[in-house]
Amino acid sequence: MKALITGASSGIGLEMAKYLSSLNYDLILVSRDKGKLKDIQKCMETTTEIYAFDLSIIDNCFKLYNEVKDKKIDIIINNAGYGIFGDYRENNLSNELNMIDLNIKCVHILTKLFVNNKSTKYILNVSSSAGLMRGGPLMSGYYATKSYVCSYTFALYEELRKNNSKIHVSLLCPGPVSTNFNNRANVNFSINSLDAKYVAKYAIDKMFKNKLLIIPGYTMKFSIFFARFIPIKVLLKITYKIQKKKK
Ligand SMILES: NC(=O)c1ccc[n+]([C@@H]2O[C@H](COP(=O)([O-])OP(=O)(O)OC[C@H]3O[C@@H](n4cnc5c(N)ncnc54)[C@H](OP(=O)(O)O)[C@@H]3O)[C@@H](O)[C@H]2O)c1
Repeated sequence: MKALITGASSGIGLEMAKYLSSLNYDLILVSRDKGKLKDIQKCMETTTEIYAFDLSIIDNCFKLYNEVKDKKIDIIINNAGYGIFGDYRENNLSNELNMIDLNIKCVHILTKLFVNNKSTKYILNVSSSAGLMRGGPLMSGYYATKSYVCSYTFALYEELRKNNSKIHVSLLCPGPVSTNFNNRANVNFSINSLDAKYVAKYAIDKMFKNKLLIIPGYTMKFSIFFARFIPIKVLLKITYKIQKKKK
């Protein structure tokens, strides 16, 4: 049994790696930081291979797939991603495009390639509660990338189900989680955050139960449900207020 996890050097991805290793899965871990991956490799209970790739570079997504495609991987977890906070007019465009490449294109490419690989049994795409909202002022690009992942994964789920595919896709949409995410986005959470270990275990357990939409924590489940009934202009005002407190 083998799982590939992108963004496995910290946060949710690292905790997923530890949990899957405890369930006896061999691991293929990917991130940019080879040093961190080497340290993690030493601590895992099962055979662990590491690949240092910047997955915001599209060619690297294909290189990664070509290196691992014959390794009989059962579980693919598209987790690598990051957010950008700030005034839309001032955010750096090349950083935004890099985020789009990682959060959208990499997820699209790896999902596409692995869905056609006969070993694949589960694909878990990590989006965010942000992806289920209708826009995130002050994190506009990030929310939009995560909406893409939600829409894409929902549609793929139904196509696979209709075709009686043996592959099951799941979508993880957490609210705030304590990881390195905030440091990279240069923000502080304005609402309570969940523990990454809890989120990782919750997500993997639900994935094995073939759940499509996985939202850890009752507060976030409740918020996402009720957000649907709030008029768009009101919802955007509320989201703006919450986001502004992050700075
Ligand atoms: N934390 C939250 O509140 C939260 C909430 C909802 C959704 N999420 C989502 O959860 C996922 C994991 O984030 P996290 O919270 O665990 O943050 P994190 O601790 O910053 O982890 C991000 C991981 O992605 C890797 N990564 C970043 N850029 C990469 C690149 N260009 N190529 C390859 N790997 C890259 C990082 O490793 P290197 O730096 O070594 O490359 C790291 O392993 C993300 O998709 C994020 O959007 C997070």
